[in-house]
Amino acid sequence: MSIRPLNIDPSNCFIAGAWVAPLSGDTLPLINPSDGNTLCEIARGQAADIDAAVVAAEAALSGQWGKATAAERGRILAKIGHAVLQQVDELAKLEAMDVGKPLKQARADVLALARYLEFYGGAADKVHGETIPYLDGYTVYTLREPHGVTGHIIPWNYPMQIIGRSVGAALAMGNACVLKPAEEACLTALAFAEIARKAGLPAGVLNVVPGLGAEAGAALSAHKGVHHISFTGSVGVGKLIQQTAGANVVPVTLELGGKSPQVVFDDANIDAALPFLVNAGIQNAGQTCSASSRILVQRGVYDQVVAAMAARYAELRAGPASADLDIGPLVSVRQKEIVEGFLAKGADLRLAAEGQIVSDAPAEGAYVVPTLFADVPPDHPLAQDEIFGPVQVIIPFEDEAEAIAIANGTDFGLVASCWSENGARQMRMARALRAGQVFINNYGAGGGVELPFGGRGLSGHGREKGFEALYGFSVLKTVAALHH
Ligand code: NAI
Ligand code: MG
Repeated sequence: MSIRPLNIDPSNCFIAGAWVAPLSGDTLPLINPSDGNTLCEIARGQAADIDAAVVAAEAALSGQWGKATAAERGRILAKIGHAVLQQVDELAKLEAMDVGKPLKQARADVLALARYLEFYGGAADKVHGETIPYLDGYTVYTLREPHGVTGHIIPWNYPMQIIGRSVGAALAMGNACVLKPAEEACLTALAFAEIARKAGLPAGVLNVVPGLGAEAGAALSAHKGVHHISFTGSVGVGKLIQQTAGANVVPVTLELGGKSPQVVFDDANIDAALPFLVNAGIQNAGQTCSASSRILVQRGVYDQVVAAMAARYAELRAGPASADLDIGPLVSVRQKEIVEGFLAKGADLRLAAEGQIVSDAPAEGAYVVPTLFADVPPDHPLAQDEIFGPVQVIIPFEDEAEAIAIANGTDFGLVASCWSENGARQMRMARALRAGQVFINNYGAGGGVELPFGGRGLSGHGREKGFEALYGFSVLKTVAALHH
């Protein structure tokens, strides 16, 4: 099947600039989670296809791409970004169909992809080495070089944004990439490869091999020809990938999600906070690594915040991606079952409010009722484990010390926010919260591509986004010249 107007055949892999069937000839069904229908068949890439992709990437590095100047790489990225912007609607529709996200969210993802390409296109020639004062007679300087072949294993929740932040930064630094999209969502990854090809990205610089995690993903993370792995996904698979890459002593960047808190103090501007408190939990149906799934509220404003959030929850509607409501289906029936398992564990909790699944939502769709719990003990599984659905828990606290203990009291540490009008408290909380990003009186900061992002603890390690990603996708070489 060819998907028009983007002109891709998802039963193929994209290797060495060409569309090729996986060597096994096998395919997997791709399901539309809004209605349960099979959209198309996608390639079931395996180790042999990953091999071919790595060979293609190596060839690109020893060819024209390896010699391209930083400015040339930047110009190509900017051109790809421009081409993405020409096809916002087509890409958004494709993503919405593939993963079930409401169209407005899918559009935002396309725009973010374009922004990453603009940013990394502009940054490619602005990463400088240093000269280091040293012993008499020496000139010492550093060079930032690409790792070589980089492997990118990405999930289904934000395929385009994650391609932008990981492949975009890797290409800016002159790496050649092998991308393994999630089996639930590979259409925009393939469309992106075609857009990049048309925009002039040389053959082999970006290769896309769809397939299962345990097959194509495992083969990529174990491949001896891969020099850096970046992975976004579950904690369990992240651990596996770190071990596998460890056997080859290959560096990994892991972004593994979280249990990110928003901490609301008595002196907060509650009206300003309210939209952030709910949206950060339900955006993309809660399937966001940096979702805010825990809302910590000080006693003085507790009842007020619970009531206001409950009122908003009662208005939330989940329905097909094309209906463009607050919430779409989850990505799959499997994810729906995982989230319903969590809801069952919450049977003993105080249900503060529920939203609704619209009555004409297809019964085969992967819909979950948006659910808000209050008075949740901080050690309850719903307050500790990543749910990855439209479910939030509200936890009361007495004072700042208790707020910090609860906020930092999970194994994760991705992002956190503090709502308070007290400047000194803002500064203390920014220091005390264990997270890769801390927001004061907002949440998410609009997802800015400029802002370094990554985890502590089980949320992973390494930093993506901003200039930090460019350092991660390159290696430093020190050159010491002695003038005899
Ligand atoms: P997953 O970690 O299995 O999938 C993410 C990617 O890893 C996919 O491309 C998959 O094919 C690949 N993969 C799976 N097994 C692999 C292996 N053995 N070797 C190499 N690659 C492998 O995540 P899944 O099962 O789709 O979702 C389960 C849970 O993971 C979610 O409920 C959520 O809690 C978390 N998750 C977190 C994400 C984040 O943004 N941090 C994204 C997706 C899932
Ligand atoms: Mg999995």
